[in-house]
Amino acid sequence: MKYKSTTIKSKWTKTQWLLKDPYFQKYVPRTLPFNKKNLSSMLDDYNNFFFKPTNGSGGKNIIRIRKTEKGCQSQLNTTKTSYSSTTQLYRDLKRFAGSRSYLLQKGIRLAKSNGKPFDIRVMVQKTRLGNWVSTALFTKVGNPNKVATNYNQGGTIRTFGKTMNGADFSSTYTPQLELELKRLGVAVGKNFDRHHKGFQELGLDVAVDSKRKPWILELNTRPQIYPLKALKDQSLYNKILSYGKHYGRFK
Ligand SMILES: Nc1ncnc2c1ncn2[C@@H]1O[C@H](COP(=O)(O)OP(=O)(O)OP(=O)(O)O)[C@@H](O)[C@H]1O
Ligand SMILES: [Mg+2]
Repeated sequence: MKYKSTTIKSKWTKTQWLLKDPYFQKYVPRTLPFNKKNLSSMLDDYNNFFFKPTNGSGGKNIIRIRKTEKGCQSQLNTTKTSYSSTTQLYRDLKRFAGSRSYLLQKGIRLAKSNGKPFDIRVMVQKTRLGNWVSTALFTKVGNPNKVATNYNQGGTIRTFGKTMNGADFSSTYTPQLELELKRLGVAVGKNFDRHHKGFQELGLDVAVDSKRKPWILELNTRPQIYPLKALKDQSLYNKILSYGKHYGRFK
């Protein structure tokens, strides 16, 4: 069987879909297309924000911008550059973007597990009958010196339970969050079905901030799951596989 599940690359399109429904608004960090006016507005409003390719993947070409006493500082991978003027920052970001389209997004201060920042992947898949199910939650634990937690940026895949145990949250919070994220995953699936046909699977990248608030950083329509093979416990991987077989994702 051929793999068939719709994919939409543009993070801007997918964010707009969510924002049309009031239910999701509190989960989406402010996101704007990159231009000089929006860059100034981000600098006015936030101490920390992200500059990321509209059609990017794998955590590549993402720059974090932080305000400093003297202006601001950008960070790409582990390379930091300081700026004293917005015009100078704008010029450099524009040059870096080249012909690619970019977004600006409010930065979420990721909660930490044993001192390392993490975010959560919620895997949502359709059953044969066409109902959305949140089949797996796992976490990506990042290198504190980098701006992205992605596996191919040096991040480590961990189970949700283990990561939450290493975070500074109360034990009652973990099952609550799990339930909330699984419901959120199903709701996103239904929302996407209203905008386009053919989705069979989705992967939500969710960050939790230090105040325990979950935020949707982005929605993947072709979520990678091979990093899960690195986990000792293969049950999540096998569960995703069994759902994926009916839409041809796995042979
Ligand atoms: N607004 C943000 N606040 C905090 N961290 C962010 C933010 N946006 C991105 N990041 C970090 O960068 C990582 C990658 O960002 P994102 O998932 O948006 O792009 P991508 O990984 O390149 O896309 P894909 O998941 O499709 O491969 C996130 O998992 C997170 O660690
Ligand atoms: Mg991602």
